[in-house]
Amino acid sequence: MKFFIDTANLKEIDEARSLGMLDGVTTNPSLMSKESVSNQKEIQKHYISICERLKNNENLSAEVINTNYIDMIQEGEKLALLHPRIVVKIPMTKNGIKAIKYFSNKKIKTNCTLIFSIGQAILAAKAGAYYVSPFLGRLDDLSYNGLNLIQEIKNVYENYHFDTKILAASIRHPLHIIECSKIGVHAITSPISVIYSLFYHPLTDIGLEKFIKDFQKKIR
Ligand code: G3P
Repeated sequence: MKFFIDTANLKEIDEARSLGMLDGVTTNPSLMSKESVSNQKEIQKHYISICERLKNNENLSAEVINTNYIDMIQEGEKLALLHPRIVVKIPMTKNGIKAIKYFSNKKIKTNCTLIFSIGQAILAAKAGAYYVSPFLGRLDDLSYNGLNLIQEIKNVYENYHFDTKILAASIRHPLHIIECSKIGVHAITSPISVIYSLFYHPLTDIGLEKFIKDFQKKIR
């Protein structure tokens, strides 16, 4: 399972890299707005800085802001030209699906975002999305079971041999990552804090403390 980091923050991306847990990056307009980028030039520079931190098959999902078809296409094409590692992130709307089809015909990778239902996931796959991003945590927040949706998407994609990859998004806690791994998603995208919380187990801390104490008692 690939670990993408859901951030536009360069320090967090570097942290994930040094941890050995970086397979890609996803951003969205809210995450970009937290960084010090205030115009198109700075936004482009920021995306390039992220891409320069990536290697091998890693990529960056960069989201379009426009919502009408023509503007979405133009913005997506600019993003795709900015750096070969950029995957154009497009919202699940009628125009978005048309844009995904357009980019898929041009062999430009897309990530269909804001997926909250199996019907939406089917449309995205039929349009040729490279990734779908079902939002786990936001469904859980409304008392719907986000993991059920992920499992359903997995089943339907297998039924029809869709190539679209599941990139589980809106991850809120370590169990989301663990359960996604059991379902067998291609990737999760998570804040680095949730990846850190996978490390913790009290018995590991207690065990390590005891090993060190025992060793120091005998060997001085
Ligand atoms: O990037 C999309 C998604 O991961 C957003 O997560 O926590 O804002 O629901 P969140």
